[in-house]
Amino acid sequence: MAYTRKEVPAEETERQIDICVRLRARFEGCAALVDTYGCQQNESDSEIIRGFLAEMGCTFTSDEYAADIIVINTCAVREHAEQRILGNVGALNHTKKARPGQIICLCGCMVQQRGMAERIKKSYPIVDLVFGPHELRRFPELLRQRLEGGRRVFAVAESDGEVTEGVPRVRDRGVKAWLSVMYGCNNFCTYCIVPYVRGRERSRRPEDVVAEARSLVEAGYKDITLLGQNVNSYGRDLGGGTDFADLLAAVNAIPGKFTLRFMTSHPRDATEKLFRTMSECEKCEKHIHLPVQSGSNRVLRAMNRGYTREQYLEKIAVARSYMPDIVLTTDIIVGFPGETREEFEETLSLAEQVRYDAMFTFIYSRRAGTAAAKLPDIRSREEKQADFDRLLERANAISLEKHLAYVGRTVEALVDGENGGREYPLTARTNGGRLVHLKGSPEIIGSYVNIKITDAATWALFGELEARQ
Ligand code: SAH
Ligand code: SF4
Ligand code: F3S
Repeated sequence: MAYTRKEVPAEETERQIDICVRLRARFEGCAALVDTYGCQQNESDSEIIRGFLAEMGCTFTSDEYAADIIVINTCAVREHAEQRILGNVGALNHTKKARPGQIICLCGCMVQQRGMAERIKKSYPIVDLVFGPHELRRFPELLRQRLEGGRRVFAVAESDGEVTEGVPRVRDRGVKAWLSVMYGCNNFCTYCIVPYVRGRERSRRPEDVVAEARSLVEAGYKDITLLGQNVNSYGRDLGGGTDFADLLAAVNAIPGKFTLRFMTSHPRDATEKLFRTMSECEKCEKHIHLPVQSGSNRVLRAMNRGYTREQYLEKIAVARSYMPDIVLTTDIIVGFPGETREEFEETLSLAEQVRYDAMFTFIYSRRAGTAAAKLPDIRSREEKQADFDRLLERANAISLEKHLAYVGRTVEALVDGENGGREYPLTARTNGGRLVHLKGSPEIIGSYVNIKITDAATWALFGELEARQ
């Protein structure tokens, strides 16, 4: 797909920051609430929204009645997400009534869909500002336009997208940090809205990614996740010869003890070089999230996934040849239009064959504008639900079996936070990304510890400290 990678000039970003400084007269000391739906890319974008708001002098709150400005960062991947968001926006009628002058902004993937801005304009008069993912970098300017122009602002122009460096960011303090390495998606899986709302694939320069990773390590972050819709396409648009495996190795070479994770890998583009590099990089987690979506070749073709069941299984075999204990997770869609009972059975058998450590399962959701939306959908919702329940039951049983195999073993894990539990107040992640509920006190958050696993459930392990390192 031919296009020119567009990078926003540094002066333009400085201009936005300058607008923030001028908006301090209005926002200094104001309370802001940023509510995020969807994937880690949205979490990462919300850090930029908070970054701009902090430059304007805002503090942050989670109470919508106390907020002077509310920004809802939305997702469109399934209908359910959309319904929840619109329901929550409707509920803001009350907060705006209780707090006149409250500014309500909607941004992210949902508003970028065709027709959505019009719908919000008509049906949600409380919304002041709507902007899509491509306009995020102009949030300060758009907010000023709303304040000074007196009219509601809708900025959702279509775009292939750009790369912006140097934007301010407020990250959650703690152990974990997101690091976007690329944006957009060119894959056009036929069920998926993401390529329509996020634009074409564009990579950040490797030196920018490495510099940001270094600053995160220096700031004390211990768990860094490299993000992209398909990280395995990283660098194709840069023409400089750096692919994702090279980038992984470059970040791995940063001094210090930390864990390097990444998502998401498209199976079609997962290469032997990637698996070899993962096995060689001591900081890289031995886990890969490799969404298969279906076990049926006919359905995979109809989804435009670009691999067969056999090719997928071969990739898993290669990954396991380099990392015999690699943790494998996946996404699966049940009830793609035209999927038959027999084709669903093939997905179930693939799940049995691979034995994933965790599976994220979804019932197909029709997204207007995608190719699959035009396909006839013959099976009833009840039939799909029954298949879904069967898959979930097997997936959970396999996860539990795999987790039970940890009991009695000692694993190294990074203590990354608290969960409020009484018996197991801490959370930790193993190198393979498994969640451990841990006994202990908060001083050890941010350290690597050896944990004796004492119990296991479907989604988590339980344990106690064996010895501090
Ligand atoms: N880029 C990532 C995934 C982004 S969306 C990847 O390709 O892996 C995350 C997951 O949501 C997908 O893997 C898919 O399983 C699911 N998904 C996407 N569109 C969907 C739809 N229309 N209906 C149901 N599930 C969907
Ligand atoms: Fe969607 Fe496919 Fe792109 Fe993932 S790779 S974001 S599923 S189009
Ligand atoms: Fe949702 Fe957009 Fe992510 S549609 S899953 S927030 S890229």
